[in-house]
Amino acid sequence: MPKSMDQIVSLCKRRGFLFQSSEIYGGINGFWDYGPLGVELKRNVRAAWWNDMITNHDEFSVLNGAPREFQMTGIETSIIMHPQVWKVSGHYDLFADMMQTCRHCKKLFRADHVWSMLSDSAWVKSFAECFEKSVSDDRIIFSSPAALNWARRRGPKVAPGLALVRNPEITMSWLAEDLQNQPDLDLGLPKLLQYMATEQKNITGFQMPCPECGGDLTEPRRFNLMFETFTGAIQTEENRAFLRPETAQGMFVNFKNVVDSMSVRVPFGIAQIGKSFRNEITPRNFTFRSREFEQMEMEFFCHPSESRQWYEYWRNRRFAWYQKLGIASDNLILRDHAQDELSHYSVGTADVEYAFPFLGPGEYGELEGIAHRGDFDLRSHMEGKLCKGPNGLELEKLADGSPKYKGSGKDMNYFDDQSREKFLPHVIEPAAGADRATLAFLCEAYHEDQQPDDKGEMQSRVYLKLHPKLAPVKVAVFPLIKKEGMPEKGLEIYRELKSAGIAAVYAQQGAIGKRYRRQDEIGTPWCITVDGDTMTAGTVTLRDRDSLEQIRLPVTGVVDEIARRLRVS
Ligand code: GAP
Repeated sequence: MPKSMDQIVSLCKRRGFLFQSSEIYGGINGFWDYGPLGVELKRNVRAAWWNDMITNHDEFSVLNGAPREFQMTGIETSIIMHPQVWKVSGHYDLFADMMQTCRHCKKLFRADHVWSMLSDSAWVKSFAECFEKSVSDDRIIFSSPAALNWARRRGPKVAPGLALVRNPEITMSWLAEDLQNQPDLDLGLPKLLQYMATEQKNITGFQMPCPECGGDLTEPRRFNLMFETFTGAIQTEENRAFLRPETAQGMFVNFKNVVDSMSVRVPFGIAQIGKSFRNEITPRNFTFRSREFEQMEMEFFCHPSESRQWYEYWRNRRFAWYQKLGIASDNLILRDHAQDELSHYSVGTADVEYAFPFLGPGEYGELEGIAHRGDFDLRSHMEGKLCKGPNGLELEKLADGSPKYKGSGKDMNYFDDQSREKFLPHVIEPAAGADRATLAFLCEAYHEDQQPDDKGEMQSRVYLKLHPKLAPVKVAVFPLIKKEGMPEKGLEIYRELKSAGIAAVYAQQGAIGKRYRRQDEIGTPWCITVDGDTMTAGTVTLRDRDSLEQIRLPVTGVVDEIARRLRVS
């Protein structure tokens, strides 16, 4: 059965995974709070990433058929950095979306989202309904009385800003004139909407309508996505600072510090998990596009001659990470960027993408980008802001020939004391979003099936098939009944699990079937039940969330069994 985003959002709220930020005040767009179970799930996602990248990474990897040694280190850098970092990195000038504002209701829209928002817009649906019987093959068989009728009756309620609603006769006159002069005019819905939004075609040209109220939109303008703040008491230009829009720059500016303090040798990686902030114009799709989010980024510094191979290595290895943690291959793709899609610094990028339920069939949303950044970042922080010139990257200069934004002037080159070579390393960057990964794991885990309840009647069951390493609770302990020493025995097992570092819960209220369902819904992989046989024969039942299989185990070995299952999962 296809999953709907509404079901997933509702489960997240009902069971304490995710809440709207500041919900009691009506929420704030683009910000989210993780509830008691959500915080555990996200912590587990971060831990799985850190473990794979740093703690547990294999020191050797095979490159060109030969084992290569490399080290991985962690770092945690500040959210507010020296403003020059963002000038030199290009974010100050280039990190912008094209934005359009509605002249009528003043709402802002990302220019590249306007058409998709229009197709979901309430007023467009209402307008299209009046041609319902005359739309064939996506072409509108236009009827001016129907349009005018809609403009006078429904229009003022649903699209008060639309030119057709504000001034129906003038607006329709352009269309009538054009239809007379161009009998073959293609009147698909997009074109028709532009006519409906245009009051003074000769003066303004065609206008784009606002998805909310139909008002005309301004021409697209650049809008920088960095949040601004001020350091210190006085709000002057010198004190202006930015909340970081990516964690990556923290690694670049500390490249020398890590080399000098850790005796690492190229190739090696510096990884960081932390909050980033982007003032997204249209945050949407639950946590997918938020204004405050968490990134898991790693900068891998390598010799330029090996950078292509390391790029391939990280591209494949990062894709496999999502699969290992339970994302089905059918829902995951690795997509290479076309040349015109590449960021200003990138010489090659591939995205790991997931088929989120809020997308249409065959559509995928980005989870992570793996970019070959060349020497762009280290060079910029050394020399100053770079731009694309006729012979590749060059220093961006002002009219007087001075650098537009100066770099630090520090030598970022690496000296290899074995080969005696000095060079500027290339960087491969796998940049993942912790919130997007968490959302993808939740969406993938969501399942419904039919199971008999305590009375044998079939009921639908919602369960989260989370990988045991990601599940917020690993095991639940239940006494079958609240007497005959079962609660005491249950609590004893529960405490033993906790002291072994295993996330466990204990519950004794309600029918046993209901207690199982509650755990299934939050993705707990195993339940241990203490019953009459526990008291006489010293065994408990261990129930599996996915297969529903129940086996009996000696009570003395059950904690070790859970620890073993977690280890091998
Ligand atoms: N340092 C490179 C960089 O930041 P990016 O593709 O802009 O690259 C990396 O961001 C990842 O961060 C994305 O793949 C996505 O998972 C996450 N991300 C970016 N913007 C986001 C947003 N507005 N909300 C949630 N996650 C976001």
